Amino acid sequence: MAILEDGTSSHDFLKEKLRNCISSGKQDPFLVADLGQVVHKHRLLMQELPRVKPFYAVKCNNSKEVLWTLAALGTRFDCASKSEIDLVLSIGVQADDIIYANPCKQVSYIQHAARHGVRKMTFDCESELVKMAEYYPKAEMILRINVDDSGAMCPFSRKFGASLISCEHLLETANNLNLDVIGVSFHIGSSARNPQAFGQAIKDGRNVFDIGNKLGHKMRLLDIGGGLPGNPSFQPSFEEFAVVINKALDQYFPMENGLEIIAEPGRYYVTSAGTLALNIVTKKVVNEKGEDGKIKKNISYYMNDGIFVSFLESILHKILLDPTSFLHLEEKLYGPAAPMQPWYRSILWGASCDEEDIIMDEVYLPELDVGDWIIFPNMGAYSVTLYSSYCGFPKLPVYYVISKEHWCILCNSNVIL
Ligand SMILES: Cc1ncc(COP(=O)(O)O)c(C=O)c1O
Repeated sequence: MAILEDGTSSHDFLKEKLRNCISSGKQDPFLVADLGQVVHKHRLLMQELPRVKPFYAVKCNNSKEVLWTLAALGTRFDCASKSEIDLVLSIGVQADDIIYANPCKQVSYIQHAARHGVRKMTFDCESELVKMAEYYPKAEMILRINVDDSGAMCPFSRKFGASLISCEHLLETANNLNLDVIGVSFHIGSSARNPQAFGQAIKDGRNVFDIGNKLGHKMRLLDIGGGLPGNPSFQPSFEEFAVVINKALDQYFPMENGLEIIAEPGRYYVTSAGTLALNIVTKKVVNEKGEDGKIKKNISYYMNDGIFVSFLESILHKILLDPTSFLHLEEKLYGPAAPMQPWYRSILWGASCDEEDIIMDEVYLPELDVGDWIIFPNMGAYSVTLYSSYCGFPKLPVYYVISKEHWCILCNSNVIL
């Protein structure tokens, strides 16, 4: 990991790296991860959502450097599988600081969690309770409810979440099976667009809490899931979400001894930390006659990364991509070096042999050439974890950087890195 000198940013680091690549003829794509961004996001979350304890969703970016940084800051962890649990335990996190937040778990994974003392688990149906009674009766069960995620780019409610009318029956079943239900969880969908969805979900959570308490469960944990935006230009902003969440929490879950409110943010923490640099491998120009009779130039660029390496999330979660060419980046930072160039309708093809492997189907860029670099900011979320080895393209190398100021914050924390 590089600790940046005062006055040097991760942008400067990236530019230096690119200049070195250009001078030495290197073309391999890479990712720059600014861990200072993760520190910054954590401090902002503490400030804007003071009642909420974050359990970072490991599935979003599972690199050890990110996990170490978050553990040092006192964040806890949301794991979806046995290997995520092992990964988080391997960096010294305690089992109590983990929530196993995949409502549908295979038996051997439940047994693994039991062996390691990971007790907090989500569920949303009866068959999960039956398994739990047999294999892990000491688990602390958290009922995931179905909420409105219609505004989200990546909804979950078709797959997960008990309907509100089924909650009473599930809570009774847990009682009959001698299982302890300690709370309620939900997820309003990833890249959510509607902050009010949090307000309604928190209200629904209160109703289910009351039913659980009435049935004798000691309801004490509300888990508001993920869904908070990570891209700084995303609208509505994180701060707008926080206002709605705080208001609903104060209304439906006023401060109370023993009550714990947690969240499972993923993309919020890591999106802005990651910047991808890709190289143009091949260029094809196609001239087309437009409706006005004029010849229009369309350019296809074939890149050395794609949906099977770092960009699967752009298809799965329909995230917004915002590429800039390296030359344009230099212009943005230092002012125009060359007279304004025309911009052309371009396609950015991914590296594999699959025709579906398109990074961007229509984007306007200045004319670029084979060997030029294109930069994608805000690529820290779901890029390293959604990797596949299809066609043999390797996982990208990641260069971790952190500013001196943020490094000192980590060093002054209680956790040994
Ligand atoms: C259970 C659970 N929690 C948290 C997250 C993280 O969501 P986000 O990245 O939107 O914060 C996910 C994402 O898939 C999830 O499935």
